[in-house]
Amino acid sequence: MNPGRHSIMVYPDLPALGQAVAQRWRRLAIQAHSETGQFHVALSGGTTPRYLYTQLASPDLVEALPWGTTHIYFGDERCVPPDHNDSNFRMASETLLQHVSIPQQHIHRIEAENPAPELCAIRYEKCLEDNLPCTPQGRKYFDLILLGLGPDGHIASLFPDSDILHEQAKLVAAVYVEKLQSWRISLTFTAIALARHIIILVAGDNKADIIAQVLGYKPHTIKFPVEMLHESAAPEWYLDTAAAALLASVD
Ligand code: 6PG
Repeated sequence: MNPGRHSIMVYPDLPALGQAVAQRWRRLAIQAHSETGQFHVALSGGTTPRYLYTQLASPDLVEALPWGTTHIYFGDERCVPPDHNDSNFRMASETLLQHVSIPQQHIHRIEAENPAPELCAIRYEKCLEDNLPCTPQGRKYFDLILLGLGPDGHIASLFPDSDILHEQAKLVAAVYVEKLQSWRISLTFTAIALARHIIILVAGDNKADIIAQVLGYKPHTIKFPVEMLHESAAPEWYLDTAAAALLASVD
């Protein structure tokens, strides 16, 4: 990736990172609300966004944000029940969704507990078709998609060497992740490219090497999944100092 093309922000620690992204979310939500009366955002799973979600549920942001017209989606989900410890929905629900007044019908959960992963993907694709807003030209879009980054360069459940990396027609697909020996449901690159804004949150020293590689400061031969993001989808990188430790300099 050409680091010069992307905005890279670095913060001292995870709380500061979460607060900064919460303020960016606030600006984007208020802008979207003023333009269209709605805000459609896909949440990331994993552990990094937990602090962001608790920040969004803090009293000042609960008051400031247009929760009643916000639609929540998920970038991916593990194929477990929604109350399972590994559920991205459960994490988001406990840290954010239970604390803000979003109409239940605006929380678009990936129903990944269904025993047929492909059916889960088909159903979520229809959910996106039915609920995402359209531009005047009829193009579906998200106002914002949040992503995390794995040490192997995966985003959502777009893992290296998986067929889903090459899915172009569908917005949602089921993927069996060999190294995790589990099924996931994930947005595809085609769906992620529908985002007006993409924020990638990365924290921790275990991400320093992948950050140095994908942001162009450390030569590497393979192409990581995150580097397959459509050129049009220039992400905003929010890092903590541990994840940015190997970056020669961040302009
Ligand atoms: C998931 C996420 C995944 C995550 C990265 C980073 O379901 O786990 O979608 O893409 O964002 O693996 O995870 P951490 O934030 O836990 O490092």
